[in-house]
Amino acid sequence: MLVYDIIRKKRDGYELTDEEIAFFIEGYTKGVIPDYQAAALCMAIFFSGMTDRETVKLTQCMAESGDTLDLSRFGTLSADKHSTGGVGDKTTLIVAPIVASLGGKVAKMSGRGLGHTGGTVDKLESIPGYRTSLSPREFLDQVEKTGIAVIGQNGNLTPADKKLYALRDVTATIDSIPLITSSIMSKKLAAGSKNIVLDVKVGSGAFMKTPAEAELLAKNMVTIGKSSGRNIAAVLTNMDVPLGHAVGNALEVCEAIEVLRGGGAGDLREVAFALAEQLVSLVKNVPVEEAGRLVNESVASGKAIEKMREWIAAQGGDVRFVDDTSLFTPAKYVEKVVSDRDGFIDSLNAERFGIAGVVLGAGRKEKDAPVDHAAGIIIHKKTGDRVTAGEAICSLYTNDPGSVEAAANICRAAVTFGSKPAGKAPLIYGVIR
Ligand code: URA
Repeated sequence: MLVYDIIRKKRDGYELTDEEIAFFIEGYTKGVIPDYQAAALCMAIFFSGMTDRETVKLTQCMAESGDTLDLSRFGTLSADKHSTGGVGDKTTLIVAPIVASLGGKVAKMSGRGLGHTGGTVDKLESIPGYRTSLSPREFLDQVEKTGIAVIGQNGNLTPADKKLYALRDVTATIDSIPLITSSIMSKKLAAGSKNIVLDVKVGSGAFMKTPAEAELLAKNMVTIGKSSGRNIAAVLTNMDVPLGHAVGNALEVCEAIEVLRGGGAGDLREVAFALAEQLVSLVKNVPVEEAGRLVNESVASGKAIEKMREWIAAQGGDVRFVDDTSLFTPAKYVEKVVSDRDGFIDSLNAERFGIAGVVLGAGRKEKDAPVDHAAGIIIHKKTGDRVTAGEAICSLYTNDPGSVEAAANICRAAVTFGSKPAGKAPLIYGVIR
């Protein structure tokens, strides 16, 4: 079999056989097939698409390209969550302790920030002492004892995705439905959880720009999850504007803690609770309405924040930071971005705010560079809010004073104004189960 023929076949719009897909994934993972041929095939898939059968086979081959986790000791209680990536998306920090406080066994591997989107591992590392790398044994023992462990993607899980993702990131082939489906679902299948909730983001800050595209992606992922014997739900959520008020690692941890204490931004709370109730409903096999009541009760009673304390302490983190978020070292420079006019906020482009966060140091400008945990943005005004000239729209936090002007310009250009309050787009577009 020749890779050249596989690339040409897909380029010309034909369906690949199971053998051809397996041959490609095995060869690319082993390093026998070079990056340039893999990049050409990704681009051919981007333009020609894949049938459901091809996507299922690609996902299976990627899931089996490395180790898989055995969570069978947790029976039907193991739980996982994945977001397709957004700005200000700290929902894992809220959903995971809520689900664990209600008996779920949350065994989660998270990613770092990617492009303009943030990553849970970077956020958790802003808590002093928190260990994002545990041995498989430590990981499973902690899930057993505290009901929750969240680590980085280490070990040899889905090496095919690791290589393909890095390649897609630099060859403009991320936003392809079969490639995203296989990337996300191969990781979820290899990570072993019985119950999975997916947060499929829609809008300017997401890979899927329209609800129709997001629905197609969600349906593909749910079908693959079910055909592999998993209980799975996908929630389609808005990512036109950043979620909540905080963008940036430590700032987002503080905002998540506020929600677990029963306060926090309304939009963040609504999305996080919608995800939590879907996952609780799968784990406990109860109707979503009942799961919703349990989620609210977990937060209102303090069980959820207590579970977060337990989790952070178990993973080496300094729990005093959960009790008192003023302990997080503040950024040295805080600058307000003020409005130059009176009016109402029409939109805040999520992708642009994500990029401004990266400029301030909250994300990586180069692969493997460190992030500044204190850097980021607090957004004071959101869609529909009235502003007057001279009033702050957001505040920029950084330890690099040279980044402020560029970030402020990006934020200013990311905001549009109207003369009356804009109609708000839905926060949750729907659920696919
Ligand atoms: N998140 C992933 O893990 N993979 C993708 O391809 C896109 C988002």
